[in-house]
Amino acid sequence: METLSRIRELYSAKQIQERIAELGAEITADYKNLDRPVVIGVMKGAIFFLADLARNIQCKDPLQIEFVRLSSYGNGKESSGVVHTPYLELPDIRHRHILVIEDIIDSGRTAKFFKEYLQDQFDPASLKLAAFLDKPTRRAVPFQPDYVGFTIEDYFVVGYGLDYAEKYRELPYLGEVLND
Ligand code: IMP
Ligand code: MG
Repeated sequence: METLSRIRELYSAKQIQERIAELGAEITADYKNLDRPVVIGVMKGAIFFLADLARNIQCKDPLQIEFVRLSSYGNGKESSGVVHTPYLELPDIRHRHILVIEDIIDSGRTAKFFKEYLQDQFDPASLKLAAFLDKPTRRAVPFQPDYVGFTIEDYFVVGYGLDYAEKYRELPYLGEVLND
């Protein structure tokens, strides 16, 4: 039998959608006149956030949407401290305006690594990062996201793309995993 965790709701599906509409408006204001922005989603955690956020951004040019897959977590609640790159295939996006979409900034290692990688590989016209969640008290390396959905305490959270041992990504709300 699968053991299930108790989950306490932090943000409802409705609250998430309302916040994403605001973030989309903020990003639209900054990107609306830029040439062909490239949005890069970091799988797996950012897929729902990217899907909803991208549909709330209206620019003069269509967005280009790409994905990579990065991971720094093992199966538990603690980061391994090492960033793995299981899928890092990107087309030629040299000198473009790049917006990275992340699920959560925790230690900051994944986001810092990926922004440095993009800077080195593609010398972008601009390079920013939008995170659905920010846990600033957990930083191991300095990192500041440009756009944040919600800033949260040091909770381990699931839902809306985020998992605990590959479970609960599909929950439409965000919840804290309670200790058993
Ligand atoms: P960082 O490199 O430590 O910032 O870790 C970022 C990655 O760890 C995120 O993209 C998530 O996949 C994972 N992560 C960090 N905190 C949580 C959490 O509370 N719930 C689920 N995944 C998390
Ligand atoms: Mg992730």
